[in-house]
Amino acid sequence: MFLQTEIKVFSNRTQLPVKEADLLNVAHEAANHAYAPYSHFKVGAAVLLKNGHIVSGNNQENAVYPIGMCAERVALFYAAAQFPETPIEKIAITAIGNEKELCQPVPPCGSCRQAILEYETKFGKPIEIIMSGEKGEVYIAKSAAELLPLSFTEIFLEK
Ligand code: THU
Repeated sequence: MFLQTEIKVFSNRTQLPVKEADLLNVAHEAANHAYAPYSHFKVGAAVLLKNGHIVSGNNQENAVYPIGMCAERVALFYAAAQFPETPIEKIAITAIGNEKELCQPVPPCGSCRQAILEYETKFGKPIEIIMSGEKGEVYIAKSAAELLPLSFTEIFLEK
């Protein structure tokens, strides 16, 4: 027996369903306004909530490098702060590369996977993760658990 993970691959953005393509456009728009003076890697994320609201975010860097924050968590935490009782359905992630065009999908970092997973656990619903570069293939994972197998969740903390 094997534990397996599944990612859906689209050859480019035009192959995406409308809802996913629209969310990715919002993420791209957010990436344009990222504050990334150190890495020059501008990331955008857009979160779709069950109530139809879309909340976007982008990476926020700092002269004290480690305190900067990824686009995904900026968007997720803002969504969770504004709509604490509303489940999150999807998150789209993209980036604008430094100098050369980004031709591969941008996956969330490990910390962001863990953060997405927290809201999956909170609401008991999977959060679809849409990953894209500026062009080329787009990946969709049906949940954070799919991108973070064998994850640590609240079940280990239950008394
Ligand atoms: N970054 C994100 O915003 N999201 C990711 O998933 C990967 C990395 C940001 C953090 C930092 O501002 C820059 O990209 C370079 O690591």
